[in-house]
Amino acid sequence: MIYERITEELKERFREAWAVAVLTGAGVSVESGVPTFRGGGSAPVWKGLPVEKIATLEMLRTDPVTFWQWYAYRREVIEEAEPNPAHRAIAAWERHFERLTVITQNVDGLHQRAGSRNVLELHGSLWRVRCMRCGLKSEDRRVPLPEIPPHCPACGGLLRPDVVLFGEAVPEDIFSQAVAATATCDLFLVVGTSAVVYPAAALPVLAKQNRALVIEVNPEATPVTEIADVTLLGRAGEILPLLSPPENGTG
Ligand code: APR
Repeated sequence: MIYERITEELKERFREAWAVAVLTGAGVSVESGVPTFRGGGSAPVWKGLPVEKIATLEMLRTDPVTFWQWYAYRREVIEEAEPNPAHRAIAAWERHFERLTVITQNVDGLHQRAGSRNVLELHGSLWRVRCMRCGLKSEDRRVPLPEIPPHCPACGGLLRPDVVLFGEAVPEDIFSQAVAATATCDLFLVVGTSAVVYPAAALPVLAKQNRALVIEVNPEATPVTEIADVTLLGRAGEILPLLSPPENGTG
């Protein structure tokens, strides 16, 4: 059902939830100035290549410079970005609900910067790198990078961002935690995702099967709209603060 506005009944159902899971996608960071991958009628290209071609292991192997230029550009955009009211509302909800799990497809780290502590990064983090040769994993926040492509400080091997590239699997342990949080929540929010990339796209269906109230927040209809109990058409930074329970939690 598509709602034009947030009703009192919806606010009450939200407030009374016990265990909450929030699945987020690129749309939650739009109001921080981070572009999406899809939606709004456009898709990003880098040097004429669609992101599905650039963000692949094959690209890293055949053209590490172009591959890393794309990630260096994204690191620059994201470093400039600040968490927006949507990230902050979700972080504040941790204090109200008995359990709150953020399941994000984003690699920007903005949920954590807003103060969320329980965040499952399905697609990894742009702020970690991994050596293709020795496997060393480390945090790397250098912007700009001193060299493109960057190399491992330990063995000199080529580094890759510690993100899930197209064609790669989501880390099993993270996904099973996401499944557990989804299957046991009573309120499942889907915010700012086109919900076409699996396995994340399967989570709203799982929540619904387990009888959670499914609320979607997105300016456009998506495949989730068909199964959501409620779709709030609009921007996350405007809608999520309106759903927020009062700080003292007494209503
Ligand atoms: N508030 C909420 N949603 C918004 C906003 C906003 N202000 N602006 C745009 N959106 C919505 C769009 O309507 C679209 O449905 O955000 C969604 C963004 O969709 P995608 O760009 O496909 O992002 P996402 O679903 O996170 O993509 C999944 O695909 O390319 C890969 O690994 C990448 O994690 C990413 C994955």
